[in-house]
Amino acid sequence: MSTSDKSTTEEKHTVTVIDNKSGRQFELEVLSGEMGPDVIDIRKLYQEFDYFTYDPGYTSTASCDSAITFIDGEKGILLHRGYKIEELAAESDFMDVSYMLLFGHLPNAQQQERFDTEIKHHSLVDEQLIRFFNGFRRDAHPMAIMVGVVGALSAFYHDSLEISDPKQRHLATIRLIAKMPTIAAMAYKYAIGQPFVYPDNSLSYTGNFLKMMFSVPAEEYVPNPVLEKAIDCLFVLHADHEQNASTSTVRLAGSSQANPFACIAAGIASLWGPAHGGANEAVLNMLTEIGSVDRIPEFIARAKDRNDPFRLMGFGHRVYKNYDPRAQVLKSSAHAVLKELGVEDQPLFELALELERIAREDEYFIQKKLFPNVDFYSGIILQAMGFPTSMFTVMFAIPRTAGWLSQWHEMLGDPVQKIGRPRQRYIGAKPRKFVPKDERG
Ligand code: ACO
Repeated sequence: MSTSDKSTTEEKHTVTVIDNKSGRQFELEVLSGEMGPDVIDIRKLYQEFDYFTYDPGYTSTASCDSAITFIDGEKGILLHRGYKIEELAAESDFMDVSYMLLFGHLPNAQQQERFDTEIKHHSLVDEQLIRFFNGFRRDAHPMAIMVGVVGALSAFYHDSLEISDPKQRHLATIRLIAKMPTIAAMAYKYAIGQPFVYPDNSLSYTGNFLKMMFSVPAEEYVPNPVLEKAIDCLFVLHADHEQNASTSTVRLAGSSQANPFACIAAGIASLWGPAHGGANEAVLNMLTEIGSVDRIPEFIARAKDRNDPFRLMGFGHRVYKNYDPRAQVLKSSAHAVLKELGVEDQPLFELALELERIAREDEYFIQKKLFPNVDFYSGIILQAMGFPTSMFTVMFAIPRTAGWLSQWHEMLGDPVQKIGRPRQRYIGAKPRKFVPKDERG
């Protein structure tokens, strides 16, 4: 089967596919978005022509219409609702961006105030939920706790499980965004054996999170404004990223009408993988393993060796074939944070800068268009601020909850969406006779 050249008729743009086995011709409509590649509408392909398409990893598949995020990976452009990520990181804040992702426009002062108040009002968790933590081992990975506890929220908030009711959908959204920092900080406090710290409504979303993480009841805690701003910026940079693995997981889980707490727990599980959000933890582990600048060539050689499974963590991206704009912002933010903490000559940061320099001059990385991604510098910032590596992916999950929920709302409101149900190319056994146990030899 071969695909012939595109043809544009006055009414509609189509592509013609010629099946060189049967001689049949199929005409498929081409749909255009606002920006980015056009899409070939294959919805009738199976019904009318008895073909599936084959696309492991969905590298060429648009699974939905979306008006939330746009990425041009070749040019290194990322827009949320049309706004450049660099501008959002510099001028906006995480609450502003969360509102904009969810509602499609920047909030005015009144809308912002209402949204902030609603979030603050829901940051506590049910006291009974606190008992869940005692069931975990102290050395449990915080992402394991996040998957379990966020999923368990559906057992506590029966009044926001009816997804056909917009009021309940909104309430569940507010609850999830509000409670993620509380649950994340509790997972950390549990691991180190310190008492849980209750939310403080006098602080910003990020300032409150830092207080729940790093304060103890015995002492006053005032968040450092530079560090508070750096974490807020990190949250802005991680808030959404189009149809990545965890977002697609949330959409797929939600397509069966599952409740939002269960869907977000599924997203957290997907995010945990080292090829996705788990990479920030893997970057720090890798830098620690490399240890010194003189060992960089050895690790670069390993990353290039096809027979070695080692990859340069924090490098490469499915979509970006250019510098990830988020990594650029985080690199500057790392400088600011280390300066504020008085550790500008932090060895791991110097190692990361040198690793980036060497990799970007290397033919292998140039040719494969492998650049630092969002995870490359975030761990440096987090580690300098006292976050243990096991919390790094949790720091990704907190802000991404806003993106996941925006995408979940969009999916539920999209009349063409149905339950997600991919098909397959079957390569297993043909029908065969069952062999009873006593005849199997
Ligand atoms: N180090 C060395 N080689 C790499 C790397 C890397 N980090 N990334 C990709 N390559 C190579 C691959 O081996 C492959 O080589 P080949 O053409 O000779 O087979 C080629 O570049 C293309 O890579 P793919 O794995 O096919 O690209 P894909 O889009 O499937 O993978 C991914 C993207 C998973 C992010 C990959 O670059 C990777 O594993 N990076 C390291 C992990 C990481 O940093 N993940 C975070 C991504 S950002 C995020 O999820 C928030």
